[in-house]
Amino acid sequence: MIKPQTIDQIMQAADIVEVIGDFVTLKKRGANYVGLSPFANEKTPSFTVSPTKNIFKDFSSGKGGSVVTFLMEHEKYSYPEALRWLAQKYNIEIEEDLSPENIQENDDRESLYLLNEYARKQFAAQLFEHPDGKLIGLSYFKERGFREDTVQKFSLGFCLDVWDGFTQKALKDGYKEQFLEQSGLSVKTEKGLFDRFRGRVMFPIHNLTGRVIGFGGRILKSDAKAAKYVNSPESIIYHKSQTLYGIFFAKNKIRDQNECMLVEGYTDVISLHQSGIENVVASSGTSLTTEQIRLIGRFTQNITILFDGDPAGIKASLRGMDMILEEGLNVKIVLFPQGEDPDSYIQKVGASAFTEYIIANKKDFILFKTNLLLEEAKNDPLKRAEMIRDIVESIAKIPDSIKTSVFVAETSRILGMEERVLLSELNKLKLRKVKSEAKTEIHPEALGIENAIPEQEIAIASDDAFEIEIIRLLLQYGNIQFDEENSVASYLFTELADVSFEHPEVKIMFARLQEQLAQNELINEHEFTMHSNQNISHLAVTLLTTPYTLSENWFSMHQILVAKEPEDLSTAVLSAIYKLKLKKLMHLMKENQEKMKLAKTEQEEDALLKLHQHLNTIKIALSNGLGAVVLK
Ligand code: CTP
Ligand code: MN
Repeated sequence: MIKPQTIDQIMQAADIVEVIGDFVTLKKRGANYVGLSPFANEKTPSFTVSPTKNIFKDFSSGKGGSVVTFLMEHEKYSYPEALRWLAQKYNIEIEEDLSPENIQENDDRESLYLLNEYARKQFAAQLFEHPDGKLIGLSYFKERGFREDTVQKFSLGFCLDVWDGFTQKALKDGYKEQFLEQSGLSVKTEKGLFDRFRGRVMFPIHNLTGRVIGFGGRILKSDAKAAKYVNSPESIIYHKSQTLYGIFFAKNKIRDQNECMLVEGYTDVISLHQSGIENVVASSGTSLTTEQIRLIGRFTQNITILFDGDPAGIKASLRGMDMILEEGLNVKIVLFPQGEDPDSYIQKVGASAFTEYIIANKKDFILFKTNLLLEEAKNDPLKRAEMIRDIVESIAKIPDSIKTSVFVAETSRILGMEERVLLSELNKLKLRKVKSEAKTEIHPEALGIENAIPEQEIAIASDDAFEIEIIRLLLQYGNIQFDEENSVASYLFTELADVSFEHPEVKIMFARLQEQLAQNELINEHEFTMHSNQNISHLAVTLLTTPYTLSENWFSMHQILVAKEPEDLSTAVLSAIYKLKLKKLMHLMKENQEKMKLAKTEQEEDALLKLHQHLNTIKIALSNGLGAVVLK
């Protein structure tokens, strides 16, 4: 148990912006900081940190709380783990009662972390202290050009070539068989428990906070039968698809330089670091995943792929490129001469020639694809057509329409093709995508984390909810000054001039309120509470009772979560306008998609697709507007 005094000390020292800033790129907005939610995949920032209140709130996932809650949610730390992490960051010595029961109480996760940390130390000690380690392991790293400080920084190690040397030592030091097996450090066979990594040099894999979650082990002998690298298996602390080798050492540089270099292997990361290029990570052990791209996306929007120039490297680059584009990030590619990878190349030519090479050979995906394909396609019109389609397919993956048009223009210039022709090809592809999306009817709840909450909330809520909310604001606050020129009522009427209401009572009330304002320059709610139409008077009375009691019924009535009455009226008014417009727009888009399914001619399809894109642009603008208002 950590002593209460220590907990107080930690909480006082911890700067919530600084801590969360280690995991999320934050930008100052007013008194708060905002960023993209680390708990959901979103394009519009909804994650807010308030340094004055000392809390964070994530509007996408609903999570929120103190700096400790954040670490527990984000790093999946237990409460004591989170405190320990903070204590280490702020150099606070932890005072605690360390009883054997407390050690027992550590959960499996913590046991695995502790075991991996133990293994890291063992392997490092064997590398630097054991004669075999020095002779075989350390001299191997030296031969590869790794300096001693580099070996130290990445905690490289050596596992002796003994069947169960590590396993036996770990058992003797009190680590349980269960965890040796789960971590993959030991392998269980009929004959007993053996070292997985025997005779290999070791590369510890760190998570975002620098804890060791697994290992890669490289063989030293050239043995055709054994794999060059052996990696830890998946475990409750090591998920390969979510892990990037080097991210702990690179994250701050990636943020500062607003670019992430993506390489294939452990040694590429290490060599580049050693030469001062530190914004580099590897997807080692797996081919690049969407989760890894999103992890990078928390720190920068710009990824540069540095791969081998062999056919496998080209294939991997093409695949990675499309995945990155699909996530809305920017991608550049550098290929190295045949037979070279970033590690071998930088060791060969040195840091400055390497950097020059990157600058000279960095290509966006269009140049990359055209260069790749132009040679063979030069005089073959069929191949040329194929290549163009190939490029357009990549462009079609980009979600942002402004970027899309920039790339269409570039393609047109490079290939000497009319933009019109490219656009028509692009539209066909997009149309196919929109159509297939329309086919799969999405249940609102299934939207899940893919959509920021505001949109999800709007999709689920009944149509009435947003119309009624406008009337509520008019009745409760209509006469209050909104800005220099407008009352709330006049502002709402101006903004909603192009919206038509469906709810029968709302329709009548809105029109009548507009008349009141025109005649008397004031809203008179009594006319409605005493209205002869029962539905209207009932609605008016409900709306004029306190917002808090209203909120509770509101959810069951309309399946909509109304936040507490916002502290400031302008937020309430603006978000009500945005939400109502978004709801109407969603209907229009749906109708349009239905029509697309039925379209008979190409012209018809083209027109509907144009409309779809137009509506989508408006939708993005409204969503962004709403995001900005809600988070102000
Ligand atoms: N890899 C792996 N298992 C293998 C081969 C490779 O997990 N059997 C992963 C490793 O993370 C490796 C990366 O894929 O770092 C790239 O593989 P490769 O290019 O073959 O190795 P290098 O990193 O170049 O390693 P080295 O320079 O030590 O040969
Ligand atoms: Mn290599």
